[in-house]
Amino acid sequence: MRLSSRLPQGFEPNALAASLARLRAQGQEVLDLTVSNPTRCGFTYPELEIRQALSLPSVLAYDPDAQGSRSAREAIAAHHGHGLRAEDLLLTASTSEGYGLLFKLLGDPGDEVLVPSPSYPLFEWLARLEGLTARPVPSYFHDRWHLDLGALEAAVSPRTRAVVVVNPNNPTGHFLTTVEWAELTNLCAQRGLALLVDEVFADYALEVADDQLATALLDLTPSCPVFLLSGLSKVAGLPQLKLGWIAVRGPGAEDALEALAFLADQYLSVSAPVQAAAPRLLELAAPIRTRILGRLWTNLATLDAALAHQPQLSRLPVEGGWSVLLRRPAVDADEACALRLLEEASVLVHPGSFFDLPGDGHLVLSLLTRESQFREGLCRIFPWL
Ligand SMILES: Cc1ncc(COP(=O)(O)O)c(C=O)c1O
Repeated sequence: MRLSSRLPQGFEPNALAASLARLRAQGQEVLDLTVSNPTRCGFTYPELEIRQALSLPSVLAYDPDAQGSRSAREAIAAHHGHGLRAEDLLLTASTSEGYGLLFKLLGDPGDEVLVPSPSYPLFEWLARLEGLTARPVPSYFHDRWHLDLGALEAAVSPRTRAVVVVNPNNPTGHFLTTVEWAELTNLCAQRGLALLVDEVFADYALEVADDQLATALLDLTPSCPVFLLSGLSKVAGLPQLKLGWIAVRGPGAEDALEALAFLADQYLSVSAPVQAAAPRLLELAAPIRTRILGRLWTNLATLDAALAHQPQLSRLPVEGGWSVLLRRPAVDADEACALRLLEEASVLVHPGSFFDLPGDGHLVLSLLTRESQFREGLCRIFPWL
């Protein structure tokens, strides 16, 4: 059988994943400092209330609306504020599905989208599976992360249709500044590009700067089309419920929403129960986020206390999100380093190169890890760094 050329050539796991599978098959306990699944991190959820929300009588009704149920959209609009209306929203089964719909909406096969680098590694495939090419545009670190507007402008080609930014970025934690936002929207307006803003982590601002753009929704009348993506995965720490959304603003928003509804209508992938439960789930989300934020701060403090005794190591500022970048002397490839930590110290960390961080001097740790595991993991890896 001939498979689509959009797919990878093979599906072999990388060396780190293969080694992890082998160790686990041997029954070895591995401390995972990469966990990004909040349901596996020992948080106390309001279980009863979540179950009740998912057993409302309305979960038995099926009245599909391609844009998503009005009541869910109203609750999401109220959650965001900043003048967002139910009619500006379209529901999806995840942010990833949101990207798929937007790439179908905006591009023809062979077109390009500019994506941030470093960033989380799904863009290449999400774009490619829609017949598009993702062109990474590097950000750079100088005291803090910066968008390279010059590089972005230089990367725009006649085939470019959209620019993707992640605010705050995963894993760098970079929030756009208000100046970067103004320059970015101007560039997109001038070059006829759409701007996709992934704000799944926007509720998790940590070491904030005065000039940071807390959310793209602060711009009520952007000069270019803006598609903001978010979802319950991070907003409520409930990835298993599979509810994401796209908010649309700026020139052409109404037409874009009509076309997005047409695309969504071909799948109708968002389940009725999660739509019925969404208003209540969003009410329950605030205390869940508070617990997650508490965990992030505690682990950051643990890391800082541990780093005080490790002059060869440091960390980058964490403006927001669930990850921290640990900086180490780049004496070997970061993948080799991660493999060594797994095999010698039984601790899983991600090498920076998994996220396209430049050089070999970064390891990525998840601040979502249970506090005791995080502390123990640091104790185990530091002697090897
Ligand atoms: C920046 C970013 N966007 C989107 C997602 C995926 O979100 P969802 O579960 O809604 O597909 C992730 C997952 O970690 C992410 O890091």
